[in-house]
Amino acid sequence: MTNAFYDSSNQVFSRCAIAQSLAGKSVVTLDDISTAQIRMLLDKARYIDSHRKEVAHTCDGRVLATLFYEPSTRTRLSFETAMLRLGGKVIGFAGAQLSSASKGETVSDTLKVVSNYVDVVAMRHPKEGAAFVATQAVSTPVINAGDGGHMHPTQTLADLATILARFGRLNNLTVGLCGDLTYGRTVHSLIETLCRFGNVHFVLISPDELKTPQYVIDRINATESCSYEETRDLMEVIGSLDVLYMTRVQEERFTDRDQYLRLRDTYILTEEKLQKAKPNTAVLHPLPRINEIAVDVDADPRAAYFEQVKNGMLMRMALESSVLGDELLGYEPTDFVNVPKDESQAYDANGISLANPRVHKEDKNAPKDLKCPNIRCITNSELSLVKKFYKDDSDANVYRCLYCDEEA
Ligand code: NCD
Repeated sequence: MTNAFYDSSNQVFSRCAIAQSLAGKSVVTLDDISTAQIRMLLDKARYIDSHRKEVAHTCDGRVLATLFYEPSTRTRLSFETAMLRLGGKVIGFAGAQLSSASKGETVSDTLKVVSNYVDVVAMRHPKEGAAFVATQAVSTPVINAGDGGHMHPTQTLADLATILARFGRLNNLTVGLCGDLTYGRTVHSLIETLCRFGNVHFVLISPDELKTPQYVIDRINATESCSYEETRDLMEVIGSLDVLYMTRVQEERFTDRDQYLRLRDTYILTEEKLQKAKPNTAVLHPLPRINEIAVDVDADPRAAYFEQVKNGMLMRMALESSVLGDELLGYEPTDFVNVPKDESQAYDANGISLANPRVHKEDKNAPKDLKCPNIRCITNSELSLVKKFYKDDSDANVYRCLYCDEEA
């Protein structure tokens, strides 16, 4: 869908629907796809929501595997429902004890087996970098449904759809992220992606023990139009926020139980506290909530967390059908971009680059004896994996693990 038009300077552009194909793509982080493709997924999800019947046979004959080595309710059920609602079928396991992992099988081997059975895989694993390992093992598209405390791209798709529905935009926002910013993988994915849309001020609210990892801070620092502040005090900043993203303290990632018990109830958002927020602040939470949001907040129109759940399913429908290359019946893109002759120079109407983001490539010259110090990194439990590192974007003397981004 392309037609030429003139802008005010009389320059010829093509007006293109952002229908770039995602067929065959794996998604470990949203950095694996272009900003234009993220917008296309948002556009498709809107269509799917109002055309449930029309899309019900999009993935007829397809099979999704959900390989969940870690507990999950909504993420797994939402991946599965998404495929069922598109006409496909689902196999899988929930819990590592139910899979051959309990016999010592590696992630690569499991994937090399399962990829013979299915067309697309959604995988959740407690080790950071596990999804990356899976994508290296097979050519079947693998979607990361959470790898340890690292990344959770499809939760970010749900978050983006919710923010877009509430504000009509993904930039010019003050976004507060509150709670466990160290282990909260949803926070890392969301910050990384919002940086791509630009003009976001992040307010990082956490106890000192649970601050945002350096590789995520580096991403904000590398984005000229974005900025951040760190604070321990939610009430000091609540009035300035457009989005308040609450998170659970991730009990399962702590090695020190006493520390978890001390930190778990640091922030409890109540209706009374929310009175200090703006009338249109959107309160998000990836769920499950433990104590972070009192139930009296649920009735407040600013509570957006159950909307996020619905958006998660719609975005997973958009993503699953797209990586399978299956067209949604009757879908005509409604989101258009102006593409100049050189596509890498493409910007949308808000001046947002539509190109691929920075993608980290292995530095083959990295010192041979480098080790990833992260005990949660898959390279430290599956010892046959080849260690790989990339050079830090801002400091050429620093290497980071290609699997989990930790400084080596
Ligand atoms: C999150 C996760 O698993 O990272 N939940 C989810 O996928 N909706 C957040 C959490 O478990 O706290």
